[in-house]
Amino acid sequence: MEKAQLTFNGMNLEMPIIEGTEGEKAIDISKLRQETNMITLDVGYQNTGSCMSSITFIDGDNGILRYRGIPIDELAEKASFSEVAYLLIYGNLPNKEEQQLFSSRLTQNSMIHEEMLRFFDGFPPTAHPMAILGTMVNSMSVYYTDYYTEDFQAGTFDLMAASLISRIRTIAAYSYKHSIGEPHVYPKRDLKYASNFLYMMFDSPVNPYVPDPDIERALSTLLILHADHEQNCSTSTVRLVGSSMANLYASICAGICALWGPLHGGANQKVIEMLEGIKQDNITIQQCISSAKDKGSKFRLFGFGHRVYKNYDPRAKILKEYCEKIFKKYNYQDPLINIAMELEEAALKDEFFIERKLYPNVDFYSGILYRMIGIPTDMFTVMFAIGRLPGMIAQWKEMHDAVPLKIGRPRQIYTGSNLRHYLPMDERK
Ligand code: CMC
Repeated sequence: MEKAQLTFNGMNLEMPIIEGTEGEKAIDISKLRQETNMITLDVGYQNTGSCMSSITFIDGDNGILRYRGIPIDELAEKASFSEVAYLLIYGNLPNKEEQQLFSSRLTQNSMIHEEMLRFFDGFPPTAHPMAILGTMVNSMSVYYTDYYTEDFQAGTFDLMAASLISRIRTIAAYSYKHSIGEPHVYPKRDLKYASNFLYMMFDSPVNPYVPDPDIERALSTLLILHADHEQNCSTSTVRLVGSSMANLYASICAGICALWGPLHGGANQKVIEMLEGIKQDNITIQQCISSAKDKGSKFRLFGFGHRVYKNYDPRAKILKEYCEKIFKKYNYQDPLINIAMELEEAALKDEFFIERKLYPNVDFYSGILYRMIGIPTDMFTVMFAIGRLPGMIAQWKEMHDAVPLKIGRPRQIYTGSNLRHYLPMDERK
C-alpha cells in the first residue's frame, strides 16, 4: 500500500493513501492528531475530503459529471427526473416495478397537510420564496412525525424521501400562488413530476394550464442537471446537520438555507439581475468585465467560476445548447441571452479569467431557460433546491448507512486573547 510520510520535529508519521475508483488519491490523516497532537488547517476546505462517497463523480479538470457512473449528458437527454432521483438515492436505475412503486409513493405524498396552508398566510407578500421553502420544509417535521424515528430505518426513510421530493414541489407552487394572490391548485395524480409542478404553478380558474411537452422536458432537464453535485456547500450542510442524527426534514431545511447564498444556488437569480442591470443601465460588456476584475469592487461575474470545474462546467454546456435549440424552435427572443453570450465571449478571452480558469457555471444559462418557462426570477433558487433534493437525500442516506455514524465536528486554530480575567464594570476602559 502506498503511504505518505510527514516529518516534523524529528518525528515521522506514515499515512495511508486512499484511492477512489476513478484514481483520485487522498492522504488519510485520521491518525494525525492522535499521533502528533496537530491538526490540519484548510480554510474553505479546498483540499479536504469529508467523506468517501459512491454517488457522484466529478472530474473538474476534464469537465466530467456522472451520477452513479452514468454521464450527465445521457441522463439529461434520456432520463426522467424521478428515475434520476431513484438512481441517486438507491444506486441503480429503477426497473419497471421499482419505478411504479416509487412513482406511486410520490403521488401518495404530493398533497400537503391542509393545516400547513395557514402558514402561507403568515408570510408577508414580499417574503423571499427560499425563506418560505426552508420554513415549510422544516415544518414537515411537525406534520409528518410518524415518518421518522430516532433510529434510522429503511421503511420510514423511503416514505420521508418520497414525502420530501413530492411535497417540495407543492410547497414551491403554493408559495408562488400565494405571492400573486391566486388560489392554490391541488396536484393531479396522473401527471408526471415536472408536468404536475407546472400545472400547480400555472393553472387557474380563468386560465387553464395548457401542457407543452417541450417545456415540460426543458424543466425535467433543468432538474436533472441540478440533481447532485457531491460535497458542495449545501450538501455538506445536510451531512453535517444529519450527522447529529437530526431528522431528514431538519437536515434538508439546513441545506436549503445554505443553498440560498449568491455564491452558491442563489447565483442563478443574481445572474439574471446582473444581465437585466447591464441592459437597463446601458453598461458595456467591457465595463462589466472591468468591475468583475476590480479587487476594490465587491462585484463578481455571477454564473462564472467554480471551486471544482477548471475547464468547463458540463451542465452549462448542455444548458447553453439546449437554450439555443428550444429558443429557435419557439422563435423565442430574449435580449438577455445575447448579453450573456457576449459576456461569456469577452470573459473567455480575458487574461484575468483565463489565468484563473473561470468559465460559465450551471447558473449562467439556467435562469434564461427558467424565464422562458415562466418561472419568476426570485424563484430560480427554489427550482435549484427542487432539483438538488434527491442528491441531498442520497448523501444523507449514504452517511446514515455507514456504520458507525460519526458526528461532523471540525477543529480550529484559536487566535484570540490569552488568559485574562473578568473585570468589574468600573475598572473597564
Ligand atoms: N468573477 C470575478 N472573479 C472571480 C469569480 C467571478 N465570478 N470567481 C472567482 N473569481 C476570482 C477571485 O476573485 C479569485 O481571484 P484572486 O485569485 O486574484 O483572489 C480567484 O478567481 C479564485 O476565486 P475564489 O473565490 O477563491 O474561488 P472559489 O473556488 O473559492 O469560489 C465560486 C468559487 C463559485 C464561489 C466563485 O467562482 C464565485 O464567487 N463565482 C460567482 C458566484 C457563482 O456563480 N456561484 C455559482 C457556482 S455554481 C452553482 C453551485 O454549485 O453552487
